[in-house]
Amino acid sequence: MSEKIIAPKGLAGVVTDETTISKVMPEINSLVYRGYKVQDLAENCSFEEVAYLMTHIDLPNQEQLDAFSQTEKNYRDLSDDLLAVIQKFPKNAHPMDTLRTAVSFIGMEDARIWDDSPETNMDKFLSLLAKIPSAIAAAYRHSKGLEYITPNKELSMSENFFHMCFGKVPAPEVVKAFDVSLTLYAEHSFNASTFTTRVITSTTSDIYSAVCGGIGALKGPLHGGANEQVMHMLKEVGDPAVARDWMLTALAEKKKVMGFGHRVYRKGDSRVPTMKKYTEKMADFTGEKKWLEIANILEETMISEKGIYPNLDFPAGPAYFMMGFEIDMFTPIFVMSRITGWCAHIMEQQANNRIIRPLSDYVGEGERSVLSINKR
Ligand code: COA
Repeated sequence: MSEKIIAPKGLAGVVTDETTISKVMPEINSLVYRGYKVQDLAENCSFEEVAYLMTHIDLPNQEQLDAFSQTEKNYRDLSDDLLAVIQKFPKNAHPMDTLRTAVSFIGMEDARIWDDSPETNMDKFLSLLAKIPSAIAAAYRHSKGLEYITPNKELSMSENFFHMCFGKVPAPEVVKAFDVSLTLYAEHSFNASTFTTRVITSTTSDIYSAVCGGIGALKGPLHGGANEQVMHMLKEVGDPAVARDWMLTALAEKKKVMGFGHRVYRKGDSRVPTMKKYTEKMADFTGEKKWLEIANILEETMISEKGIYPNLDFPAGPAYFMMGFEIDMFTPIFVMSRITGWCAHIMEQQANNRIIRPLSDYVGEGERSVLSINKR
């Protein structure tokens, strides 16, 4: 083996492998999926087209998209067994925990679990893409003591998710804002959850295990869980008149303010302007201006005091709130989208695999002898 390389804490700045899926360019505040700017994809494509792009390298033509969408729609139903299991979930369980359990169950139901051929994995991906929103909606309805709503296979993915959660499809402006958020959340190179899925895949474990690991990593407030914390924070601030002082106090107390900062972007997250535009549209649509007013003051204060910029979770949190979602649904919605990036990375890892197994620098006790229990 070659010489030891001491990596910085948190692997900051370390390149661990190649990828063809996305490129983050912090120097020009840009993110591309398979060569396309994420802003262009968000404005011009449906989330289904982006999901196809992620796993098929190119954007689909109409025929390819129709076939892809039809397969996704056909997979939206959950089995009766899974629906029965969801009825047993504690009503106050966090939706990320219920989702992790549902994905694990879906894996157990798949007889092809050890078949990791590219064709089977693509099919498993489509099944997860379709079933994850159904599982989120089913667990949400159960937690509220409401009847399960079956998927509507005439609707787009975003429309169907609203239908399964709330029993109706909202105005096109709301659906578009939601769809845009899914596109923006779909992929972001070797972030913590994606890296987790690649580590699990590198052991030649199965796709469902990798996705369960990804969900666990995404749940953390330093990663995907931040979109929930942003909304809790906006509610805690409560009033634009106190927002500046709230931020100054938080900074004086050296608090980590949720929705700000990024390991890769130092001068702003390329996804934020697009999401912010659609959060503003949500504020216009609902007439709920307060959240954006508070958010804008927090942002200005953070940038002027510390030079730290908001990340995508900052505008996404209030957008989802204004769409009517409970705060603890925000990170599961992130999973609905990031499943595309995760599965693309899982398949890329499988295609050119070497087990990911770093070393550690032992700094514990020196060598010592074991004394029998009566001599200790
Ligand atoms: N609030 C306050 N200060 C922050 C901050 C935040 N959200 N994010 C970074 N900083 C400060 C750090 O305290 C540090 O200051 P110091 O040099 O005086 O110690 C400096 O900025 C550099 O941050 P660092 O901790 O090195 O960043 P990181 O790359 O290790 O962590 C995050 C990146 C995203 C985990 C971090 O910015 C964070 O915790 N953000 C809040 C959670 C969040 O929004 N996560 C979603 C990410 S998409």
